[in-house]
Amino acid sequence: MKPTTTNTTTNTTENSAQEKTIKHKGRRAPILINDMSPFMIKEAYKAARANINFALTGRGGSKRFIVTSSTVGEGKTTTSVNLAIVFAQTKAKVLLIDADMRKSSVHKYLGIKNVSGLSNVLSGFVNLNEVIKKTTHGFDCMTAGPIPPNPAELLLSEASTELLDTLSEYYDFIIIDTPPVAVVSDALALVDKVDGTIITIRERHANHDDLKKTVSALRFAEAKILGFILNDASGEDGTYKYNYKYRYRKTYKYYDYDYSYGE
Ligand SMILES: Nc1ncnc2c1ncn2[C@@H]1O[C@H](COP(=O)(O)OP(=O)(O)O)[C@@H](O)[C@H]1O
Ligand SMILES: [Mg+2]
Repeated sequence: MKPTTTNTTTNTTENSAQEKTIKHKGRRAPILINDMSPFMIKEAYKAARANINFALTGRGGSKRFIVTSSTVGEGKTTTSVNLAIVFAQTKAKVLLIDADMRKSSVHKYLGIKNVSGLSNVLSGFVNLNEVIKKTTHGFDCMTAGPIPPNPAELLLSEASTELLDTLSEYYDFIIIDTPPVAVVSDALALVDKVDGTIITIRERHANHDDLKKTVSALRFAEAKILGFILNDASGEDGTYKYNYKYRYRKTYKYYDYDYSYGE
C-alpha cells in the first residue's frame, strides 16, 4: 500500500504543482489520521505537507490555502482535516475553517458543535473569539455556522478579506475547506484571498472533463494551484486512471440528489 507520486495528464506544471497519492483502507467515515494510522498514510500526508510548504516558499508570514475539488465526495474535508493535523504536528499555529457553508461537515469529523461559525462572523453577528474552537488535535477550528442564504457573496465580501487578514496575524497556517468548483462558485470567491489552492481528486469518482473545467475555472480566477492530492487510489502503483466515467455519473447523480448544493 505504498503512497506514490504519480503523473497526471492535467497540465498544471506552471505552478510547481505537486501531486500525492493518499490511500485509505475501507469506507468508514470519518478517516482521520492518528498515531495508530498506517505508517504509509501518515507519511503521505507529511509528504503533502512538505510539498505545500515548498510550493509556498517565499511567502512570508501567515500562509493560507483552500482545499477544493471538482465534485462532492472527493475527500476535501478528509484532506483538510488531516492536513490540519499534520501541520499542527510541527507546532505551527493552525486554523482550519469550514467554508463549505452549504454542506458543512468539518464539525462532524471533529466531533464538535456547529452552533455558530464562519457564516455568523461574515454576517457580523458574532465576534471571532466566540467561534474559534480548540480541537484535541492541536489546531483551532472555525466551523461553518448556519447555512446562510448567500454563501458565495459572503465569501467574496470585504468582511471575508478582513477576517482572513485578522486571523493571519495569529496563525501560521490557515486551511480552508470549500465546496466543489464544478458545483458552486464559492471556492472561486476565495482564491484571491489565499496563497494557493489544493485540488483533491478521488480515483474512480472524478470526471476528467469536470476536472479540466475546474482547473480552467481556477486559472481564470488566477488561483495559484499548489498541487493535486490523489485520494483513495486503488492501484498498487498509484497510477491515475480515467476509465471510470460510468461509475462517476452514477455516483454524481446520487450525490446531486442527496446533497444540498446548488442555488
Ligand atoms: N481515501 C478514502 N478512503 C475511504 N473513504 C474515504 C476516503 N476519503 C474520503 N472518504 C470518505 O468519503 C466520504 C466523503 O469524503 P469527504 O472528505 O467528506 O468529501 P468532500 O468533502 O469532498 O465532499 C466520507 O465518508 C469520507 O470518510
Ligand atoms: Mg466536505
